[in-house]
Amino acid sequence: MNKTKIAIFVSGRGSNAKAIIEQQNNFNYEVALLISSKKDALALAYAEKQNIPTLVLDKNEFQKTDNLLSILNEHKIQLMALAGFLWMIPQYLIKAFPNKIVNIHPALLPKYGGKGMYGIKVHEAVVENKEAESGITIHLVNEKYDEGKILFQEAIPLSENETAASLSKKILVLEHKNFAPVLNKLC
Ligand code: GRF
Repeated sequence: MNKTKIAIFVSGRGSNAKAIIEQQNNFNYEVALLISSKKDALALAYAEKQNIPTLVLDKNEFQKTDNLLSILNEHKIQLMALAGFLWMIPQYLIKAFPNKIVNIHPALLPKYGGKGMYGIKVHEAVVENKEAESGITIHLVNEKYDEGKILFQEAIPLSENETAASLSKKILVLEHKNFAPVLNKLC
């Protein structure tokens, strides 16, 4: 059976991208393109080592033209995974791939989502508010950040001395374990 071709979008560290790539042999998807908003993203080098084609986006071109669609077509992309991708997804992309763009968020949406809620800021807010638990959310992407249909959530309790840094480590483990199988379900 043909595997579903996935493009992963990253902006930074890329540990989720790496986890998705590492698990591709266990699942029914193939990472066919890695797209980065930053030319020095660590995930680019990792993807290249695995012989996965890469693309570095130009912000203006990405937002103001739909040139990316033909590149996605060339690579026969069917599903997209946003793994720490920080730019707003333009309408042309959402329209061309309805219900085929998936994001991972390091908190239990709808709490701690929306503008400015990314990276360590999310965990700082959770710890500051003395939440009893946090977790991860994997969801479809629509025009509004963090408001698409939720596909998966997993919660973990905060420990007494939890810090944003310790919470971020625990959350990352959950992300690496769950993103790949959720993507697989959409294949
Ligand atoms: C993850 O915590 C993810 O939930 C969020 O950005 C972070 C990306 O980490 N959207 P990495 O680049 O995959 O290491």
